[in-house]
Amino acid sequence: MKQEKTTSTDAASLPRRDFVKTAATVGAGVMILPASTVFTYAANSAPGLGIIGCGGRGTYDGGEFIANTDVRLTAIHDLFDDRLEAARASYDKKSAEKGQPALSSANVFKGVKAYEKLLASKDVDLVLITSPPYFHPEHLEAAVAAGKHVYVEKPIATDVTGCMRALKAGKMAEGKVSVHVGFQKRYDVGYRNTVERIHAGEIGQIILGQSFYYTNDLGRQNKPGMSDLEARIRNWVFDMALSGDIIVEQNIHIVDIVNWALKAHPVKASGTAGRALRKQVDGVPANLLSHDHYILTYTYPGDVHISFNSNQFRNKGYRQQGERFFGTEGFAETMQSGPATITLNQVRPGQKTGDRMDAGPVDLHKAVGDKMKALVESIKSGKYENQVEQGVETTLTSILGRMAATTGREITWDQMLKSRDNWNLKLNLESLGGGAVSMR
Ligand SMILES: NC(=O)c1ccc[n+]([C@@H]2O[C@H](COP(=O)([O-])OP(=O)(O)OC[C@H]3O[C@@H](n4cnc5c(N)ncnc54)[C@H](O)[C@@H]3O)[C@@H](O)[C@H]2O)c1
Repeated sequence: MKQEKTTSTDAASLPRRDFVKTAATVGAGVMILPASTVFTYAANSAPGLGIIGCGGRGTYDGGEFIANTDVRLTAIHDLFDDRLEAARASYDKKSAEKGQPALSSANVFKGVKAYEKLLASKDVDLVLITSPPYFHPEHLEAAVAAGKHVYVEKPIATDVTGCMRALKAGKMAEGKVSVHVGFQKRYDVGYRNTVERIHAGEIGQIILGQSFYYTNDLGRQNKPGMSDLEARIRNWVFDMALSGDIIVEQNIHIVDIVNWALKAHPVKASGTAGRALRKQVDGVPANLLSHDHYILTYTYPGDVHISFNSNQFRNKGYRQQGERFFGTEGFAETMQSGPATITLNQVRPGQKTGDRMDAGPVDLHKAVGDKMKALVESIKSGKYENQVEQGVETTLTSILGRMAATTGREITWDQMLKSRDNWNLKLNLESLGGGAVSMR
């Protein structure tokens, strides 16, 4: 009788970190840190913070750095005057509250390549990268090459090639500078407690799980009279190449929790995605329009199945994201709205069957601040932290899901790595202008 092929693939037997080795063989571009690179930061002084990409998150993260740590905001960069102006006003207010000086106009940089001036500045020790995800590998690589510490927002890239470029930059940074990636949930007490208890075996061996991210449609950012290119950059979040699609750009937070809880990345994925309501967005090419929903099954080593559902829909304000893990001894649930809980289905001393134990509050605003404190502490102590590998692994997991849904085929981890998935846009961003910033 013909042997039925098992569902587990070669990748399932790979040690967790082997994806890095496999990945290195498909990476593009080599980065060499110049021997003359000077690591400018003097331990125990307040690090100077430079920000690349001053939109919604850049403004929030920058403000949180100022509020939660002793960093001094010293330089900012963006493509657009209005973004620089609004962010600058917000940063100056936060700095004043901490008794720090306002930003100098000499350190406000505009234009696609002007981030190089920010990175060349001796006033900058730490760089926050909050540009659209497509640019993250380029900005991360340049920041590390300039000897700067980095906080790069998730996702680390939008395609496999970008992930490999980021991985190389991460290797260059190892032991020389700290690099954090913006997965703040890993610093939340509720999430941490739950995942630690899962790792301690409190719900036994995980058999299956559920992950979901439901939110509302997002606002369009273009205005009448803008060129198609500007509209595209403003609406980057709806462009699969610039954002990675909703699963890579936004839903990646729940993907990260599952990888963290299972201490693994998936072996394969299958599923579907659609554009039920999202038919057109100004500036975004029709073939790159992001989806508005996803439904997937991820298979992890040991045939652990995790369902994944997401949408950006007309949910009339309903938003929820969470993860549920079903194990041989119990159940664990982490919800963005909290509380994170673990339920055991076994009677143990002092417990009743089905006890729900609160694993702590979920407070992601605090988690962001705590993450920033940890990064700055690592810089000051010289005990550098490097989260690039984890950031790449989670980004690749999201890309795997996107690839399965958009091809309509089951895709293995190895097939995804070997795909040489590469958006490689040829955007003429110089045409958007640069040089002097027309403000104040
Ligand atoms: N950790 C989280 O929970 C969280 C939440 C929101 C956003 N994010 C991430 O933060 C990043 C930024 O998202 P956002 O919501 O602030 O978007 P946004 O559009 O509000 O801001 C992006 C900014 O980058 C600028 N920009 C565009 N191209 C650039 C380039 N080549 N160089 C420099 N700047 C450029 C834009 O003009 C804009 O000001 C994304 O990676 C996003 O996924 C993370």
